[in-house]
Parts: sequence; structure tokens; C-alpha cells
Amino acid sequence: MTIEVRALPADFERRRWGEVVFAAFGEELHEEEFAIFEQLPVGDRLFGAWDGDALVGGGGVFPFRLTIPGGEVPAAGVTAVGVIPTHRRRGILTQLMRRQLDDARQRAEPVAILWASEGSIYQRFGYGLASLAGSIEVERARTAYRVPVEREGRLRLISRDEASRLFPAVYDRVRVQRPGFFARPEPWWELEILADPESRRHGAGPKYYAVHEVDGKTEAYVMYRIHHEWDAAGSKSRLQVIELIAGTTRALRETWRFVFDVDLVHTITAPRLEPDHPLLLLLAEPRRLGFRLGDALWLRIVDLPAALGARSYRGHGSLVLQIADGFCPWNDGRWKLEADEDGVRVERTDVRADLLADITDLAAVYLGGFTFGQLAAAGRVVECSAAGLKRADDLFRTDVAPWCPQVF
Ligand SMILES: CC(C)(COP(=O)(O)OP(=O)(O)OC[C@H]1O[C@@H](n2cnc3c(N)ncnc32)[C@H](O)[C@@H]1OP(=O)(O)O)[C@@H](O)C(=O)NCCC(=O)NCCS
Repeated sequence: MTIEVRALPADFERRRWGEVVFAAFGEELHEEEFAIFEQLPVGDRLFGAWDGDALVGGGGVFPFRLTIPGGEVPAAGVTAVGVIPTHRRRGILTQLMRRQLDDARQRAEPVAILWASEGSIYQRFGYGLASLAGSIEVERARTAYRVPVEREGRLRLISRDEASRLFPAVYDRVRVQRPGFFARPEPWWELEILADPESRRHGAGPKYYAVHEVDGKTEAYVMYRIHHEWDAAGSKSRLQVIELIAGTTRALRETWRFVFDVDLVHTITAPRLEPDHPLLLLLAEPRRLGFRLGDALWLRIVDLPAALGARSYRGHGSLVLQIADGFCPWNDGRWKLEADEDGVRVERTDVRADLLADITDLAAVYLGGFTFGQLAAAGRVVECSAAGLKRADDLFRTDVAPWCPQVF
């Protein structure tokens, strides 16, 4: 079997591509889903895998701008990767990854990011676990705060149109401070965030949009829906928080209180929360949150000197890293990182290494999700100079954990 992976020709029927990728997930491509996908900014970045004339797999890339410590970088947002069941384990994904990463490098994107359906798939291609996310499932009756909240702002339910005017500014204020966020271009807000097609409701009610305001200024927003269920004892309904972004601590406290106080709701769930979520410290019974951590954003360093050179570091210092990268050999080898008052320099070197690491390890520390010390404790990074781990962690340390609130 000869499989060819190539960019989707401009005249190729995109719906067919979408059907193949959805079939790989065992799902049906609804008309409204396709209409949304058609308008998202993938441009010429759809790839297909052909067995003769038959399309048997594919993958796409969104051109994102990703917040990293101290700034942002262009990032290849890998999406919709799938191979139909008849053609698996014959190297199609491997070819697809090769094409995507070569393409990202040519486009000067220093990193690629994705959400993985299974954590075991992408590490072989150099993706490392860059951020965690928490989920909660809590009974409304167990959501009392440790100290009752004094409301300073007001919550207002708003229309989708108003949400489209008010939400993006709140998101952007948080985005620039939180590694792991990506900038949402205009159609993304309308189509991916605010739109409410039936195919995404899964039996639940409509999306509700609400803002938290103080003196007319929007400090937070929340989007949620309710899955209705009743039995003889009353409501068993579940309120699902789709996204809650707060730009201030008071807005976070008050908006979550609002969510927990919606009547006729039995349980509140929220996926993809920040891993260091303040709710754990706000609630009287934190265990009742059922807070569960899992892998979130996976990141691939595509161009090592460009990626490390774009980040900020804590204080001044230098570090020599011996990096193993079999899939992108241009990153493989020994690199010296220097950060001082003149900026950051990353160059090849022959001097003795402080640490031995794999490219996936560098991805894990890049946004601040993990430390070199944690990787060493897991037997991944090896220290080969005195206090090399400490120096590395002092340089790479960040103030906040990375968080990506949305699967793409
Ligand atoms: C995941 C998927 C794309 C893999 O495609 P594929 O063409 O079978 O992958 P390849 O043949 O190139 O596999 C490359 C390597 O990854 C391994 N691998 C592939 N899929 C894997 C999985 N789901 N779990 C663990 N290992 C996997 C293969 O065993 C192979 O290992 P080897 O090099 O040691 O032999 C395909 O199974 C699929 O479409 N799955 C359903 C949809 C999905 O989960 N997509 C990913 C979305 S993030």
C-alpha cells in the first residue's frame, strides 16, 4: 500500500475531507459543524492522506498566536487529525506529522500545539505535556464558600450579540497574562465560542451568557447550559460551565458564586479549569469539588533557538542543555541559553552540558507547566553539573501555571 500525504488541493471538496476525519473519530459530520469549520482560519493548511484515489485520513492547522512567559509566538494549532480504521498503524500519522512540522518550520512558527485524544499518540513526535487542566463536578448543596462573599459587582444575563461585544476584551486581558491562551480571531468568537448549534447541545438547553460588572466595567463572563433531568425527588439537573473567564479576583469569586446559586440545579460541572484554580481555596469543602487534574495542551518545540529566544526568564543566568530530538534533527544537540540585561541568546555550543533532556522535556517546562526538577524526579532529565537543575529552574520559573481554556 502506497500512501501519499499532501496538502489538500484548492479545488478538493472540503466536505469529503471533513467526513473522512469525522469517520476516523466514529462521528457524523453535521451540516452545521461543517458550515462552522468552513469559515475557520485553516486556509491552505489542510492535509490529506490518499490511498490511490481514496482519501483515508487527514489533519489541519490553525495559525494561532500563543501566550508564552513574557510574550507570544506564532503557533501551529494542530487539529482534526484522523485516519480511517481500515488504514491504521501503517505510518499515515507519522507522514502527516512530518508534513505538518516541516510546514510549521517553513512558516517560522517556533512551536506547535494540540489537544490529544490519547496521551500516548504524540510524544513519539516530540510533543510534551505543557499544561494541565482541572475539572469539577460538585453538588450545588456543597458549594458554600469558606467565607461568604460580599457582592461588589452585579451579574447580568445578556444576549449573544452583547456577549460578542463584551466577552473578547475580558478574554484578551487574561490572555496576555496567562501562558497557554491563544488569540481568538473574529470568526473564532462567533463560530467556535458564541454559536449554539443543536449538534453541540447533546440534549441540553441553550447557551446562556452572563457578565460580571463593576461600575459598568465588565470584569468577568460566563457561558453555561443546563442539562435537564427530574425525578420524583426533584431536580437532578446539571449546569455545565462552558467557559468562565475572570479578570479580577472579586469577579472570579462572585461569578462562581452566581454559577453555584442557580436554582433548580443539582450538580455543577466544568471542564478545563486552570490547574491552580482558586476555588480549591474558596470553598468550605474543597474535596467536594471533585477537582480532577488531567493533561491539557501538548506542545512541540519546532525551532529550538527561536522558541527559547522568544521567552522571558527569571533573572540573569546561563544554562547548557543537551537536547535529544530524533524527529526534528535540526534541534538535536547542545545549546547554550544566556539571559541577561541585553536579552536572551540561544546558540549551539561545545561546552559541557548542565542537563540532558529530550525535546519533550523542554516542551513540558516551556510554558511553566512543569519544572526540570519534576522531570528529573520522573527519571527524564539528567543533571550533569553541580546545581544544574536548580539553575535551570531558577531561570525558567514563572508566576502562574499555564492554562488553555479551550480544546480546538
Ligand atoms: C491516532 C491515529 C491518527 C494514528 O494514526 P496511524 O496512521 O494509525 O498512526 P501511525 O501508523 O503513523 O503510528 C505511528 C506510531 O504511533 C503508534 N500509535 C498510533 N496511534 C496510537 C494510539 N492511539 N495509541 C498509542 N500508540 C499509537 C503506532 O503504534 C506507531 O508506533 P510505532 O512507530 O512504534 O510502530 C489513528 O489511530 C486515529 O485516527 N485514531 C482515531 C482518531 C484520533 O484519536 N485522532 C487523534 C486526535 S488528537
